[in-house]
Amino acid sequence: MCGIIGYIGDKNCSDILLQGLSKLEYRGYDSAGIAILNNNNITRLKTEGKLQGLYAKVYLEKPEGTIGIGHTRWATHGAPTTINAHPHSAGKFTIIHNGIIENYKELKSYLQKEGAIFSTETDSEIIAHLLDLNSKNLTFEEAVVKTISKLEGAFAVLVLFEEAEKIVAFKQHSPMVIGVGSGEMFVASDIPALLEYTKRFIFMNDGELAILEKNSFNLYDFSLNSKEYKIETLNISPLMAEKGNYKHFMLKEIFEQNRSISDTFRGRVLNGGEKLDLDTSELNDFFKNSLKRVIITACGTSWHAGLVGKYLIEHLARVPVEVDYASEYRYRSPIVDENSLIIAISQSGETADTLFSIKMAKEMGAKVLSICNVFQSSIPRSSDAVLYTYAGPEIGVASTKAFTTQLAVIIMLAIHLKECKTGELDVKLLKELLSIPEKIDGILQNSELILELAQKYHHFRDFLFLGRGLNFPIALEGALKLKEISYIHAEGYPSGEMKHGPIALVDEDMPTIIMATKNNQYEKVLSNLQEIRARSGKVIAIATEGNNSIKEFCDDIFFVPESSALLEPFFTVIPLQLFAYYVADIKGTDVDQPRNLAKCVTVE
Ligand code: G6P
Repeated sequence: MCGIIGYIGDKNCSDILLQGLSKLEYRGYDSAGIAILNNNNITRLKTEGKLQGLYAKVYLEKPEGTIGIGHTRWATHGAPTTINAHPHSAGKFTIIHNGIIENYKELKSYLQKEGAIFSTETDSEIIAHLLDLNSKNLTFEEAVVKTISKLEGAFAVLVLFEEAEKIVAFKQHSPMVIGVGSGEMFVASDIPALLEYTKRFIFMNDGELAILEKNSFNLYDFSLNSKEYKIETLNISPLMAEKGNYKHFMLKEIFEQNRSISDTFRGRVLNGGEKLDLDTSELNDFFKNSLKRVIITACGTSWHAGLVGKYLIEHLARVPVEVDYASEYRYRSPIVDENSLIIAISQSGETADTLFSIKMAKEMGAKVLSICNVFQSSIPRSSDAVLYTYAGPEIGVASTKAFTTQLAVIIMLAIHLKECKTGELDVKLLKELLSIPEKIDGILQNSELILELAQKYHHFRDFLFLGRGLNFPIALEGALKLKEISYIHAEGYPSGEMKHGPIALVDEDMPTIIMATKNNQYEKVLSNLQEIRARSGKVIAIATEGNNSIKEFCDDIFFVPESSALLEPFFTVIPLQLFAYYVADIKGTDVDQPRNLAKCVTVE
């Protein structure tokens, strides 16, 4: 949940560290710090709050040095204060850590008995003290190895030692990528921090330790045996992780959805929709001959994409699908066998609960397919096959373009599973997929209308979101977006369930946003809508273009293009994303980095 970066080379590194941290701030943003090694001396600068505080400190103190590490924090142990901010030091060692050391309490009392004096409330500080204690009679590298052997939990750690011009990096269950430069080396939690400097990366695996020097690096296991590595070249432009002319990343990302969905279909939906080529060759025989059940595990917005997946896969491929919160799935002794497919959906590929859920299911004999946005992250690497969503880096904490590209992969997968099961390719639907980006573009061109709705409704303190069928997950997603960034209470419900509880809340102070598109449930939704109006509830309907007759039943209306019912979620979700964004912006919240939330949740 924190972001880490390291640099070793010829350049004065404070700017590189700050620049990298600004790209990682989505991972955590309650405090930050850097440490720079220069002439056997390590300078640490730390601040609480957003990164701007650290910029000011660096500007005033101008630390010199070409070897350094930096950290942006999302507090787990210890309040977000300057003292608890990383880096932490003990003796000649300085460290930064992303993850949680689960056995830190016992390690801390052991270290205290050995004379260590702690200055923070964090779990991470024990790593510095262990290094200090273990360094007696051992080399730097040996002390690191001995320290790692004591740690339990999740960690991506960078270490500086006053007497060595190198950075030692090691990881277990937390992400870490090495950037290979020319005469300089980088290391970070995620590639957006490094895209400006290199396109050559090594994605470290769990149980690996890297020693970075200016002109070289080596990879080892945790017993210091050398390991082979592969350098991957990625052609992602740094501009993709920039805000451009948009006020916030979230707005930019909403407006990118036509492009990101096209990119996700590209190379897969072929010949104008006559052919589907989904890169799941490892699993196709399993799909054809063995698949009996699908279990989707995910968290947050990705879980909502999973709910849409249930409707689509069951409808098209006629395979039963369960959808589980990964955090629940892990602990409820699920029933899994070798005929089960686990689909893990994750933007980041690092969400701890999702990662552990697939590891568990794999051990029980299931096949694992992941749907992920971050290349070579932990979830794809723990799966039998992966389908990437080509959304590009998503920086806004509230997920938008990652969600619709997840839907794009899921609809292709459902069509593919149907083809595997029946031998029949649904060409009509496949062709229709190609019209989605243009239709989304049309909705985005009407964003002014959503801004007007936000101006009219932003002062309400509670909202109800309703939808049926494929639009029920979209109601949940609309409510989640509003909660996340505007801090307004919102509930998503299946329209048909409204009578069983939420209707008691309806009055003139609780507006309802209802998905009322023209599908086979439209008449029922219309009844729900009138039930709300009869109780003085205000109604904003998301309706199908051309359905002017709905106007008499609602206070406000936003039209989305006509489509096959299976594709409606692509369109109904866009106005809800925009509504949440504009309401939050009017309220002046920190849209891209809402309070208490983080983009990537690598703790349980
Ligand atoms: C966090 C993020 C959400 C995201 C969820 C799951 O809560 O703020 O936007 O939906 O984690 O993350 P994942 O990377 O697994 O999709």
